Amino acid sequence: MNTPLTIAIPKGRLLDSVAEYLSQRGMTIKFGSRQLSAVDSSGRLEVYMVKNHDLPTYVHHGIAGLGIAGDDTIRESGLSFTRLLTLPFGSTRLCVAAPKGTAPPERSMNPVTVATSYTRMTREWFNSRLIPVKIIRLNGSVELAPALGLAPYIADLVETGGTLKANGLEVVTEMENIQVRLIANPAYFKLHYERINELVHIMKKDIL
Ligand code: PRP
Repeated sequence: MNTPLTIAIPKGRLLDSVAEYLSQRGMTIKFGSRQLSAVDSSGRLEVYMVKNHDLPTYVHHGIAGLGIAGDDTIRESGLSFTRLLTLPFGSTRLCVAAPKGTAPPERSMNPVTVATSYTRMTREWFNSRLIPVKIIRLNGSVELAPALGLAPYIADLVETGGTLKANGLEVVTEMENIQVRLIANPAYFKLHYERINELVHIMKKDIL
């Protein structure tokens, strides 16, 4: 019997969907109370539950050979991975938002101030449109920034739009679609090519 493949999964909003998706394909994960690693019911995977932002670090260092993460987490890390599969849940949009009625940001001599946790993607988006930008990094509750006068615009993930609405904000521009991916450390992928392909095959299966 081979040792299990190692995989990091995110603790945050994707956790339940990831666990359900794997379970439907015969890989049920049960973490004991406060336990952060477990082998799935098929013995195929050794699963590490990590913070979103740490997930790329674990995969980059090969501690976890595989990972499941959103494009936001992957892109913000600035690291490169082998992208194996796009998963059918958790998609969302990265948007510029502002108080209702605010005009979209446009080119001008003065930089546009944007509060966000997604600094790399936001900077790239504004740079590619030649709109000067001043980015203020926040770790969460970004929706408060316009009302408190920190920044007129925010860049954040929007799923239902409920959080924006509850804070008097609306989408002024969609920046990009965010998907959830199965990724691999490139060296780990080469080393365990056959077993990883078998896993990808199982993960691709539609469940009735
Ligand atoms: C995300 C995002 C928004 C919210 C959008 O936060 O940052 O705050 O979800 O979802 P909605 O459009 O359905 O209201 P998340 O819950 O992932 O937590 P965070 O504050 O740690 O980013």
